[in-house]
Amino acid sequence: MAQTVSRIRTIVQAHSARFERAIPLIASENLLSPYAKELLISDLHSRYAEGLPGERYYEGNEQVDEVENLCLDLARRLFRCSFADVRPTSGTVANLAVLKAFAEPGDLVGTSRLADGAHISSASFGAFGLRGVKPVYYAWDPEQMTIDVPRTREILRAVRPKLCLFGLSLFLFPMPIEELRPTLEEIGARAWYDGAHVLGLIAGGEFQDPLHEGCTVLSASTHKTLPGPQHGILLGQTSDPEVAKRLQSGAFPGVTSNHHLHAMAALAVSLAEHLEFGREYAHRTVENARALAQALHDRGFDVLAANLGFTRSHTLAVRVEKEGGGEEAARRLAAAGIIANKNLLPGDKSPKHPGGVRLGTPEVTRVGMGPKEMERIAELFDRLLHQHRPVEEVAAAAAELKSGFTTMKYCFAAGEAAYRYYDLVGRPPA
Ligand SMILES: Cc1ncc(COP(=O)(O)O)c(C=O)c1O
Repeated sequence: MAQTVSRIRTIVQAHSARFERAIPLIASENLLSPYAKELLISDLHSRYAEGLPGERYYEGNEQVDEVENLCLDLARRLFRCSFADVRPTSGTVANLAVLKAFAEPGDLVGTSRLADGAHISSASFGAFGLRGVKPVYYAWDPEQMTIDVPRTREILRAVRPKLCLFGLSLFLFPMPIEELRPTLEEIGARAWYDGAHVLGLIAGGEFQDPLHEGCTVLSASTHKTLPGPQHGILLGQTSDPEVAKRLQSGAFPGVTSNHHLHAMAALAVSLAEHLEFGREYAHRTVENARALAQALHDRGFDVLAANLGFTRSHTLAVRVEKEGGGEEAARRLAAAGIIANKNLLPGDKSPKHPGGVRLGTPEVTRVGMGPKEMERIAELFDRLLHQHRPVEEVAAAAAELKSGFTTMKYCFAAGEAAYRYYDLVGRPPA
């Protein structure tokens, strides 16, 4: 078995080495800061702390309580809100906690279709199905790449869902919550925002602020545009103690037992770093997304929403049917060291054949790339997918570009510590 352990370490090292050379463009990924990362392998990883600070079911939690109270304070400050719960262990778990808090099996819950960019949480084979709620789909406006407000008002009035979820995985433009709010009030529906993708942009003031536009709760992952550990969060702006109580009991005992204390502590560090650096980071992330979209468009790629400036988030979508379809394009890009994902786009005929790729700029921004580098990335796309240059040639150019970006920005550690972001554990000692 020792050999197997050694083999596993070697595989993970190869993974890290690969990503060190790569241009990572997955919209849902980011890099964890060195100070946050070291807490993931701290003793907290071995401990249990069910319940809330000061009301635990276990002994030995005094320091955990202190860290969790700090984490909750930082979350409320960063999102300018009155309620936080940092116990959900992922974005999906946070979504389940909301469903547990505010819906019963059989209830109708408004959401977007997967084909329009919604997350699988909204699917009958995902969190919605698990809670036994029935989706009511909003109408979509493919020209504006957002919810069609007039048609959705009609749907909401006719069907009267109890809870309405806003938020997407292919999230280019803000959701029209303020426009729909009078209808939601008229039918007595509660608004819920899934900000997994855009959490760091919301905190950085670069995207809509759902808690101040009337949403009762914001659920999210904490590792996408908010560059924290893999974890989840619930946030709220409410004076109603009943709302807070329902969300807290949705989180525990609803959908967690222990809440991964190492990740919670790492999240506290990431929230502090975002309070310090998040405004600039969020701004540069969106700026890079728009620059990459424009540069690809200029090279003949069919970037969605050209008439709207392509995007207002960290994400852009490119229809790649003439480049062989989403699957083929993503596969060729990965072979050349450019990591992206195939994606269903509105209007695709079959879910099995996504017509696009989704690109995101959280990680390339985190290592300090700017609009000039977005130009160079677009050029690599062109060489590979339009000029059909050999994969090895493009991979070498991608690695060469990346080699100039080996330190992490927007965090407290600098120099060598920040350099080691790809592999704090797997790199053999020098
Ligand atoms: C909109 C949305 N919600 C929830 C999730 C789930 O997050 P997690 O992977 O943390 O469970 C995702 C994941 O990408 C997402 O895009």
